[in-house]
Amino acid sequence: MNFFKTTLTAAVVVGLGLTACSTDKSNDMDSFVSDLMGKMTLEEKIGQTNLPVGGDFTTGAPMDSPIGELAAAGRMGGTFNLTGEKIYALQRVAVEESRLHIPLLIGMDVIHGYRTVFPIPFGLSASWDTTAVERMARISAVEASAVGINWTFSPMVDITRDPRWGRVAEGNGEDPYLGSKLGAAYIRGYQGDLTRPDEILACVKHFALYGAAEAGRDYNTVDMSRQRMYNEYLAPYKATVDAGVATVMTSFNLVDGIPATANKWLVDDLLRKQWGFTGMVVTDYASINEMTSHGLGEQKENAIRALKAGTDMDMCSDAFIGQLKEAVEKGEVSEELVDRACRKVLEAKYRAGLFDDPYKFSDTTRIAKYTLTPEHRAAAREIAAETFVLLKNEGNVLPLAAKGKIAIVGPLGNNRDNMMGTWSANGVGNECVSVFEGFKNYVGDKAEVVYAKGSNIDAGDRIEQGSQAYGGAMRDPRSEAEMLAEALQTVRGADVIVAAVGETNGMSGEGSSLTNITLPETQRKLLKALLATGKPVVMLNFSGRPTVMDWESENIPAILNVWFPGTEAGNAIADVVFGKVNPSGKLTMSMPRTVGQIPVYYNHMNTGRPNDSGDFHAFSSCYMDVPNSPLYPFGYGLSYTTFSYSDFTLDNDKLTKDGKIAASVKVTNNGSVAGTEIVQFYTRDMAASLARPVKELKYFERISLAPGESKVVTFDITADRLAFYNADGETVVEPGAFKVMAGPNSRDVETLDFTLE
Ligand code: BGC
Repeated sequence: MNFFKTTLTAAVVVGLGLTACSTDKSNDMDSFVSDLMGKMTLEEKIGQTNLPVGGDFTTGAPMDSPIGELAAAGRMGGTFNLTGEKIYALQRVAVEESRLHIPLLIGMDVIHGYRTVFPIPFGLSASWDTTAVERMARISAVEASAVGINWTFSPMVDITRDPRWGRVAEGNGEDPYLGSKLGAAYIRGYQGDLTRPDEILACVKHFALYGAAEAGRDYNTVDMSRQRMYNEYLAPYKATVDAGVATVMTSFNLVDGIPATANKWLVDDLLRKQWGFTGMVVTDYASINEMTSHGLGEQKENAIRALKAGTDMDMCSDAFIGQLKEAVEKGEVSEELVDRACRKVLEAKYRAGLFDDPYKFSDTTRIAKYTLTPEHRAAAREIAAETFVLLKNEGNVLPLAAKGKIAIVGPLGNNRDNMMGTWSANGVGNECVSVFEGFKNYVGDKAEVVYAKGSNIDAGDRIEQGSQAYGGAMRDPRSEAEMLAEALQTVRGADVIVAAVGETNGMSGEGSSLTNITLPETQRKLLKALLATGKPVVMLNFSGRPTVMDWESENIPAILNVWFPGTEAGNAIADVVFGKVNPSGKLTMSMPRTVGQIPVYYNHMNTGRPNDSGDFHAFSSCYMDVPNSPLYPFGYGLSYTTFSYSDFTLDNDKLTKDGKIAASVKVTNNGSVAGTEIVQFYTRDMAASLARPVKELKYFERISLAPGESKVVTFDITADRLAFYNADGETVVEPGAFKVMAGPNSRDVETLDFTLE
């Protein structure tokens, strides 16, 4: 039986609102796609490689593409950022009106939830909880697929060491091992095994090295040695390939001087040949056209370059569709390359099950049933509470008792829109719970909760005038003095003040780089005035990146970093502030003391003149004015209980190439409440053929301990865990001296020595 014919019948039947009939699954993907491609004209094949934007919301210049006409003519392989019923309507045009009835990929940046919004990815990473990330991705897929989305542009696994870069908010921070574990969890959550109608294609991005943009300025140049790439930046992309990610997005930046989209070494050699990736490669937004600005000439040659490099689908440049036909006809590029790209697009559709049932993702009954359900909201609340990082808790100000008068002050204290963070897909600001609302929900009539705004965000006119940075009606027309006076009035008689300060959700994310990542002066003034009342002050810091909080950490007794927590923000914050949930999040990027230290990251090289003391020593590698260390190190985060580490041992101090040694540490909960600790193990290579970092995270475990309970956590060290990419481009394991470290963060570790024989 002809598979495609059967599929088409099924599609039309479903399109008429009847039930889908079963399809003959005996044909494998190759023969199915070959058969289909045998019927396609050159133009139709090129059409599959075209990805115009749908237009409901865009990330670049608004583009009014006539996508309905393109779909009917078979001149596009998919679209993205289209919402609601338009998705179904467009799919129907492609399936019923185009000559070969090929369904469309329907993409969207569903990166931390679709309608139920979860914490921003950077916040999620602070949970160090792969299960939570997988669950979040699974729920995102369920909600997004219900409206017909079959492809998400997530996860972003770019390693980020520069908090000035706004897209820190979208990633997993500075560590390749943690980034790999989390990246793979996203893939499992979105894709499952791609058999169910609520599993969608994932797209890992941005391949590659986008997080290393110079000076943290978005879209800026990247230049990096191969050994740094392999040893420090590439692992998370590779981990998602190993986890079966269906698609990969190339990045905007240069790699070895060539834009990633046209970089044959990157896409063809590394991704496909070395890593064995068999899926589809899509460009980032208009990145073929941006090659002209990079200085690589005109659209036609860049379309050819991208195709030759191994890129299959052109997002928003209209370059493949505009240039490839003529290029093939003139012999400037072979039709085989167009065939390869078209095949990859069709294979992605096949894997998504679109040829079985093009409407499997467009079942309107599922929208009501699976969108923003109480279960999804409960998951968002639970997961958000895991992402908060307790940076300071002097005198155990936290947790608060639900009694007396609690004053919430600050520009983010009663704001719903800004709880969602960057890229919140189809999230609705008004469905979010503000801090004030969450606190009132929590305490009921047990305590009085009052609120005053206290100040504007006041990050400066240039930011305020920027298009996205101030999402929602953030600016209060009242003067600074008036707002402060109102706040001081409101806090009268309060037992405690909770200051909700930080950035708006538009101050991080794409196109939102900053050189100043301290709290704006107006907000600092507000904090000073609140402290001057003599009342205990708890600071909730909302941010999409590490904040420079030298003054705050010196002066405010309790600081909880809450990132942007999503739909259930206020409830989740209340759960932690009042101690129903004990905070367990740990930083995934170092928090600098000052912008001038950036990049500051834990897994740096030692240099020939290290300075670990923190004091200034001339002719050692340090600054005259501040220590090298960050204010809060990678892996850092407090709890309402205290954990002690003891009995750190190795069962052997010699490791053979095929053997293993067990590094064990006993962790005890010494406090009076249960808590979750993230136990971390690092190694250091002391005698390699090239310089290796002072520490590399190699293993972690989240453990929950009742008061007084202890648990032994073991990291099995094997030689392959110590491998690295050497100066000759080989991955090697070199014998010699090593150190292994265990502790609650990257700074406060105990160290043992062993030798690899
Ligand atoms: C971003 C991508 C995103 C794409 C589509 C681009 O500007 O860099 O991360 O997936 O737009 O929205």
